[in-house]
This record gives sequence, C-alpha cells and structure tokens, in this order.
Amino acid sequence: MAQRLKDKVALVTGGSMGIGRAIAEAFAEEGARLIVADIDDAGGRAVVRAVQAQGGAASFVHVDVADIDSVESMRRHIAERYGRLDVLVCSAAIYTRGEDVVQLDAAVFDRVMAVNLKGVFNCCKVAIPFMREAGGGSIINLTSSVGWHSTAPGVLAYSTSKFAVTGMTKAMAMDHLHENIRVNGIAPGPTDTPLLRASRPPDQLEAFKKAQPIGRLGEPAEIAAAAVFLASDEASFITGVILPVDGGQTTHI
Ligand SMILES: NC(=O)c1ccc[n+]([C@@H]2O[C@H](COP(=O)([O-])OP(=O)(O)OC[C@H]3O[C@@H](n4cnc5c(N)ncnc54)[C@H](O)[C@@H]3O)[C@@H](O)[C@H]2O)c1
Repeated sequence: MAQRLKDKVALVTGGSMGIGRAIAEAFAEEGARLIVADIDDAGGRAVVRAVQAQGGAASFVHVDVADIDSVESMRRHIAERYGRLDVLVCSAAIYTRGEDVVQLDAAVFDRVMAVNLKGVFNCCKVAIPFMREAGGGSIINLTSSVGWHSTAPGVLAYSTSKFAVTGMTKAMAMDHLHENIRVNGIAPGPTDTPLLRASRPPDQLEAFKKAQPIGRLGEPAEIAAAAVFLASDEASFITGVILPVDGGQTTHI
C-alpha cells in the first residue's frame, strides 16, 4: 500500500511519549518527515532515534507549548530545516484530577489552561501561516472524552481545557475552511499511556479498566490510526469534526 503521508512535513507536540509518540511513529511509517516537539528532550530524542533506525526521517525540537517564545523557536526550527509544514498534531497536555472548584489551586488551573488550551493556540498560530503558503494542511487537536460531549467528577481544570480545545478546533475549522486547512479533533477515551497510569494507584486503575464499556483501555496505536486518517488526503472532506476514539465510552449509558 502507498504511504499515506509521503513527504508531508508533520509536527507532533507531546511526541515524546504516550499518544503523541504513537502518532509520531505512525506518521513516520506512513512516509512523513517528522518533527517531534516536546518539553521532554530525552524522550523526544529517543523517538527520533527509533524512527531513524527504521529508515524514517525525523528531527527533535524542544518546546514548552505554553510559552510563546519557545513556540517561536519551534517555528524557526520548522522554517530553517523544512521551510514548510503540512500537518500539526497538538497532543501535549497535562492532567490533574481529584479537586473540585473550591479545592483546586488557582495556579494549577492556570497552568492546565496554559498548556492544554493556550498551547494549542500558540502552535496553531505558528503552523497556519506555513500551511497557507503551501496551499493547505491538516491540524489535529487532541481533546478528550471528558472534553467534547460529557464529563466526569473531579476533572474540572482538565475537562474545562479540553472543552475549550473542542470549541477552538471547530472555530479554527471555520476560519480556515477556504484555505484548504482542515482542523479536526480526536477525543480519546481512557488510553494506556504514562498520563493515565499516573492518574490513579494501580488497584484503582485496574477497577477503572474493568468499568469501561469495552472492558479495557485504548492502545496509543488505536488513537494514532485515527490521526493518520485525519492527516491524510483520504480525509479531504472532513473538517471541524471531533472524532471519538473511545471504545464506546461516550455512547454508553
Ligand atoms: N491517555 C488518555 O487516557 C487520554 C484520554 C483522552 C485524551 N488524552 C489526550 O491525549 C493527549 C496525549 O495524552 P497522553 O496520555 O499521551 O499524555 P502523556 O502524559 O503520556 O504525554 C504527554 C506529552 O506531552 C508532553 N508535554 C507536557 N507538557 C508539555 C509542554 N508544556 N510543552 C510541550 N510538551 C509537553 C509530555 O512531555 C509528554 O511527552 C493529551 O492531549 C491528552 O489530554 C489522553
């Protein structure tokens, strides 16, 4: 089968681990020229080495998506090394759980919003001019099953940030409709990544897994498969969509 992202320049924020890493690796397998962008340099460089060992093309750039100066140096990396950008995946995010509005520290709320929401804003702000110049592109924002349809107790900051990412994704899809820039979201259900594993003690994690309608967690590769599709020209008529990849979680009563 032909590679579906052949020669497209694709940047994945949060590409050092978890879902972002799986997306980065899947993109490289599909022929993309990959840029892994993350605050975790060691993890990101390891992904780049693994991709290169498989014959893929990849580079790493350090970024804190919440910091516009850091995102500006990411822009320079794109401009100097590639001169174009065809695909952006915003996967970088942080998670906090267990507090209601009274308990939640305002500084924690601010940081979650800065990384999860402003980070998407910052990265799209630098990506869209490249896409405009290239005559089009595809942006995929990672929202969440607690950020597009329903939510759950104890995830106030995270859920708020992800509902906002859902809204921003749809708003950007409308703004860039006529520039051939497609903007979509993926709303994963609980997926087996470092973020999820850190969210609960092991016994609670086991119970949580069993409580899923499908009886298991998602695998990062299952989210990555949806991202490959949305990034590729196969999805050329799809924009403004939030695609749930959640084992039926948000449909189940
Ligand atoms: N794992 C799940 O169950 C799940 C469910 C729904 C949505 N999501 C979403 O999917 C995406 C990926 O989640 P994951 O589980 O792979 O998370 P993860 O914690 O395993 O990986 C997140 C990555 O983002 C990076 N990162 C964090 N802050 C950053 C910053 N300020 N700048 C740059 N990089 C930063 C981390 O270093 C890490 O590499 C996130 O947007 C998350 O909200 C995950």
